[in-house]
Amino acid sequence: MKIMVIAGSPTAESRTRGVAQYAAEVLRELNVEVLYFDVGIDRLPLFTGDASEADNETVKKLAAYAEEADGFFVTTPEYHSGMSGALKNALDFLGGKYFKNKPSAIAVAAGGGKGGMNAMTNLRTVLRGLYSLVLPDQYVADPVAFDEGNVLTDELAKTRVAELAKQLAEMTALIQPSKVNN
Ligand SMILES: Cc1cc2nc3c(=O)[nH]c(=O)nc-3n(C[C@H](O)[C@H](O)[C@H](O)COP(=O)(O)O)c2cc1C
Repeated sequence: MKIMVIAGSPTAESRTRGVAQYAAEVLRELNVEVLYFDVGIDRLPLFTGDASEADNETVKKLAAYAEEADGFFVTTPEYHSGMSGALKNALDFLGGKYFKNKPSAIAVAAGGGKGGMNAMTNLRTVLRGLYSLVLPDQYVADPVAFDEGNVLTDELAKTRVAELAKQLAEMTALIQPSKVNN
């Protein structure tokens, strides 16, 4: 089974990356092959709809990973009550054919307090628009869940991200049992 983990922050120092990397670690422990794509590292051009964009190496990587994936773990920071523009730009290069009948788990890194819910709802809506089966469970990580290097260190936060990753692997196996790695 292959799961694409998308780190959805454009920043060099990113808490979202901390969530994505922990999710990837848990998935690997579950014997899942992880296809890791980080919009802050795998820099995409701005989506314009021009056919020549398909020749861009990073766009090719994005599309190849999404096509290969049996499920998705998508993370984003909350920026102004929505997902990051960089993540939305990446998703705009893809379409329903990459996501249809494939589950997604979503998690957000937000500013604390009651932040994060709007980005999660925004991401859920967009993934529904891409025909993904978005798991009902979801998670927001506050800044206190990370150490100074943006590694997810809070035990409760790690447990919640691990639960989400496990649910995603289980749901993906239910939908595509032939893809399970033994
Ligand atoms: C442009 C911008 C807008 C933000 N808007 C929000 C917001 O609406 N709600 C919130 O909870 N945090 C907001 N934040 C805080 C980020 O969500 C928080 O710092 C998060 O950990 C950033 O993740 P990153 O380091 O992976 O980019 C904003 C930060 C930036 C840079």
